[in-house]
Amino acid sequence: MTEQIEQVVEVKVRKPSVQDLPGVGAATAEKLESAGYRDLLSVAVATLGELCETTGVSESVARKMVNAARDSMKMGFETGIEVLKKRELVQKISTGSEGFNTLMGGGFETGAITECFGEFGSGKTQIGHILAVNVLASNPDAYAVYIDTENTFRPERIRQLAEGVGINPEDALSRIMVARAHNSDHQMLLTEKVDSLITEQGKNVRLVVVDSLTSHFRAEYIGRGTLAERQQKLNRHMHALAKVASSHNICVYVTNQVMAKPDQFFGDPTASIGGHIVAHASTFRIYLRKGRKGSRVAKLIDAPALPDGECCFEVQGQGLVDRG
Ligand code: GTP
Ligand code: MG
Repeated sequence: MTEQIEQVVEVKVRKPSVQDLPGVGAATAEKLESAGYRDLLSVAVATLGELCETTGVSESVARKMVNAARDSMKMGFETGIEVLKKRELVQKISTGSEGFNTLMGGGFETGAITECFGEFGSGKTQIGHILAVNVLASNPDAYAVYIDTENTFRPERIRQLAEGVGINPEDALSRIMVARAHNSDHQMLLTEKVDSLITEQGKNVRLVVVDSLTSHFRAEYIGRGTLAERQQKLNRHMHALAKVASSHNICVYVTNQVMAKPDQFFGDPTASIGGHIVAHASTFRIYLRKGRKGSRVAKLIDAPALPDGECCFEVQGQGLVDRG
């Protein structure tokens, strides 16, 4: 009965697209789309230089496009009440470790990017697997997306962790969408595809893991001359991830390596890859390191309205276990 009442008549209204902008014909629309301007928001926040360069239009046409895109959408302020309402939708994904959850204010947040950086074997990939299983355990129709750049996703491990939290391992595996990214362009394309998993395939994606965020960028852009180009591209990638997080209330978890800073004598002699670009785009940043006797230490570096702090845990068969 109630199902019948709740049936809604679907009225299909076509969303305005870049094609509807003044001065944009089919050819320009194609150029815009292949340069990553797939919706009006991306045009509305683009710089004129970028638009002219990617599409070959004159500056005055680019200006008209940007203005029209801006006019067509609600861009501006919202009240604190509206922000509060959005905050109420935020979910926290458990790490399985009480100490780690407390450090993160309850767990890894949806609607935000969380970056874990640390040396090899510090637990970044394990955390990705654990978050995936825990998000699936918390909601029977949730999906997790795993963008794997280093071929370290392990279905056997998912199975073991699923048993650890008491959910059906095959069901868990069927709700993880895994894609191997072969290079940085492919990685960026896969990020865009997350949107169609949700809007076209109707999957309730709650977590997107990018493991590792920077390995392809690091390998492809070698030498000082290419650094600016790499950072620009990484910046675009971070924006795309931030958009995924905020427009669909998804937890985006990215892993990052560290590089040695040989000139640093005091403090920690390591720095994360991608520098301030990745750091600023991430809402939460965690530094992971190996502790004593096989333990791992997570240090919260950056988080809105949470105190900095540390916790200690161990990766075990069934998941993360607190260590004192
Ligand atoms: P890189 O990707 O090489 O930079 O390392 P990472 O930070 O991703 O490390 P990862 O998460 O792969 O591994 C961290 C540690 O978790 C390993 O050194 C192991 O001690 C432990 N570990 C990995 N897999 C398992 C597992 O299946 N069971 C158990 N008990 N521990 C594991
Ligand atoms: Mg790893």
